[in-house]
Amino acid sequence: MVNSENRLNELSAQEWLRFTKTWFIHNPPRRKKNEVLHPAKYPEDMIEGFIRFFTKPGANVFDPFLGTGSTLVACHNSQRNGIGIELQKKYADIAKERIQALQNQMQLGEIGPEFKCKQLVIEGNSAKINTIWEQLGLPEIDLVVTSPPYGPMLKKKGLVSKKREEQGLDTQYSDDKDDLGNAEGYDDFLRRLVDLFLPIKDKLKVGGHCVVILQNYMDKGEYKMLAWDFAREMSNHLQLRGEKIWCQDNKTLYPYGYKYSFVPNVHHHYCLIFKKNGD
Ligand SMILES: C[S@@+](CC[C@H](N)C(=O)[O-])C[C@H]1O[C@@H](n2cnc3c(N)ncnc32)[C@H](O)[C@@H]1O
Repeated sequence: MVNSENRLNELSAQEWLRFTKTWFIHNPPRRKKNEVLHPAKYPEDMIEGFIRFFTKPGANVFDPFLGTGSTLVACHNSQRNGIGIELQKKYADIAKERIQALQNQMQLGEIGPEFKCKQLVIEGNSAKINTIWEQLGLPEIDLVVTSPPYGPMLKKKGLVSKKREEQGLDTQYSDDKDDLGNAEGYDDFLRRLVDLFLPIKDKLKVGGHCVVILQNYMDKGEYKMLAWDFAREMSNHLQLRGEKIWCQDNKTLYPYGYKYSFVPNVHHHYCLIFKKNGD
């Protein structure tokens, strides 16, 4: 075999091969006290896998829906520079706290000096990305990795949201009209989501990747094909390279539709992988 340079990442052949499998099981660990307020956090070690595959150390990674800052924690741990935008102050503050805690550990010498990449939390609206980029003089991006609101699905009142409500935890991100989770229905949501990604494409380097994690879901008896619809729409703008299906097998099964109809317990997500090719 020709021993040519690895242009994408620093993985061994075995690690590379393993990552190309199109499904995986990842059960998120129990969340820490300051992270549990947020209704839909993703696991940082899982995201680190994507960052390590699609970039090399020192690369610039961007998350337009930062939430509690998991992407930036993954960037810190893998020595990449991270930029994240989050609309809600309460979540941006959690992200800042988490990054600050990692930096404090560094100062105390608990983690080594090789972790010198920068993590930037921006409180703002990702629909205004051009202005934000210009005002802060931000760089080109090697990788976008994110999980947007899953449509207006958090607005649905169900067994899970009832349980969170009882515990005094958020069941939706906000009432803010700029929050994509508050879009006027599914079609409006999908249009706003795709529109938000168009200027992001311009910030991505040629050859850079964009990983978007989404889920299909049942809404009032209708199955919303969010992941598939987004993949189709976005593939007009970036090349769809494929998907990795993230399965969770430790979630509670609820008896939706029991004895009258099939109603799925949707315990998988689509990690959609796009690439920016030269125009
Ligand atoms: C699925 S969550 C992301 C969770 C994140 N991956 C984590 O691990 O914490 C989506 C986030 O997008 C935020 N959001 C919604 N609309 C936004 C917008 N227009 N600009 C920036 N953030 C937005 C929500 O407040 C929410 O925190």
